[in-house]
Amino acid sequence: MLGTYLRNYLDMDKLVIRGGNPLLGTIRVSGAKNAALPAMAAAILTEEPVILENIPQVRDIETTRKLLAEMGAEVELGYGRAQHRTTICCRNLASPEASYELVKTMRASTLVLGPLVARCGRARVSLPGGCAIGARPVDLHIKGLERLGAVITQEHGFIEASAKRLRGAEIVFDKITVTGTEDLLMAAVLAEGESIMLNCAREPEVADLADLLNKMGAQVEGAGTSTIRVKGVSRLHGAKHRIIPDRIEAGTFIIAGALTGGDLNVAGCDPRHFMALLQKLEEAGVKTAHSADAVRVIGGPSRAADVVTEEYPGFPTDMQAQYMALATQANGTSIITENIFENRFMHAQELVRMGASIKIEGRRAVVRGRTPLSAAAVLASDLRASASLVLAALVAEGESIIDRVYHIDRGYEHIEEKLRGVGAQIRRIGEMLPKKVAAPVVRA
Ligand code: UD1
Repeated sequence: MLGTYLRNYLDMDKLVIRGGNPLLGTIRVSGAKNAALPAMAAAILTEEPVILENIPQVRDIETTRKLLAEMGAEVELGYGRAQHRTTICCRNLASPEASYELVKTMRASTLVLGPLVARCGRARVSLPGGCAIGARPVDLHIKGLERLGAVITQEHGFIEASAKRLRGAEIVFDKITVTGTEDLLMAAVLAEGESIMLNCAREPEVADLADLLNKMGAQVEGAGTSTIRVKGVSRLHGAKHRIIPDRIEAGTFIIAGALTGGDLNVAGCDPRHFMALLQKLEEAGVKTAHSADAVRVIGGPSRAADVVTEEYPGFPTDMQAQYMALATQANGTSIITENIFENRFMHAQELVRMGASIKIEGRRAVVRGRTPLSAAAVLASDLRASASLVLAALVAEGESIIDRVYHIDRGYEHIEEKLRGVGAQIRRIGEMLPKKVAAPVVRA
């Protein structure tokens, strides 16, 4: 009861941003949420503790903690600011299930399917259902597991999978899928015999997962390329692993620096992971300089540059919304084509409400710049859409209020504190009671 109350209370948080301040100084990037999620799921594969460092303090991590805890895992999340470490011990997995309540809030929950079947011989995972940015089916996860010998049924909204022991197989993905590749990789490491996976996702997060699995005693080769080879082993052991930096958070901050025309050092990132973005920014006239673990951005976009989202190493769909905010401030017309998800332009209408000129034509957004932005009350529809609204608000004239901040909290760690640290005027407000009864409480 209290939990539900608190959740509703947190869900009412809003961000209030006054635009116009150039961002100056150093902003630090956290660990990659999309690498941390599969790494946490990988802990299912062993009875021994897995220690993960550089875990971001974001809501999806907390959801994964709950997911694992419901199965009987012991999960310690280091919530002290300096720690960012989690220790997961899956000695007793009493119930290899993922409930609808959790899966519906985070589709990546499907990541537990492969490791559960591999370790426990069975799994019951809720089907995720629809999603704000598109259909996002899980058919490729299911097909791949069947190739590895699992028997799968779907009933009452759940996927039920069982296999005494999975068998190595050749799996060709019909379509490139990130969590699909990760899910099946985690299944294959404990299968009997060799697996070859073709047309795999090449994201750095897949390679990071393979690094962890190899530290746990797996034999994985080729992760980060489109062909992954796995020699199955009968058991895995505990390991310690540091999660890679979040390339999408880094990219979001780089665009924040470019948009506000400051001098921003985005530190603790790995620029090799977002070369497509850096190249696109250069094309748009944004001046950046990078070292091995930082990017300095000086000055905003001077001209429009078209973008097409693609699988890694192409331009990431997870940066499309943020790039759109930048495109509103470039001179000329930028055409942004979304190739990965069919409904990922929900931020466009909110940007239009702030003064942007954007037309959606199917999978293409035509952004005419440069238009001055003016502050507005806007609604975040998904994680990256909310980041794009924060970016627009940082350059809009006046005070914007971004509602449904829980989307941004899924994947950005303390975003308002980080941005405030480099000069942004941003604060969080939470409404404990309906507006008519009480004034908003500042939770900065
Ligand atoms: C991951 C990322 C997400 C990112 C996305 C694309 C995580 C936790 N999330 O999501 O941030 O936006 O990659 O880079 O890493 N598809 C199918 N059948 C399947 C699986 C996927 O048709 O079984 C389709 C999807 O509908 C989509 C495309 O494949 O059109 C790519 O999706 P996928 O790579 O699976 O995205 P996620 O792994 O869910």
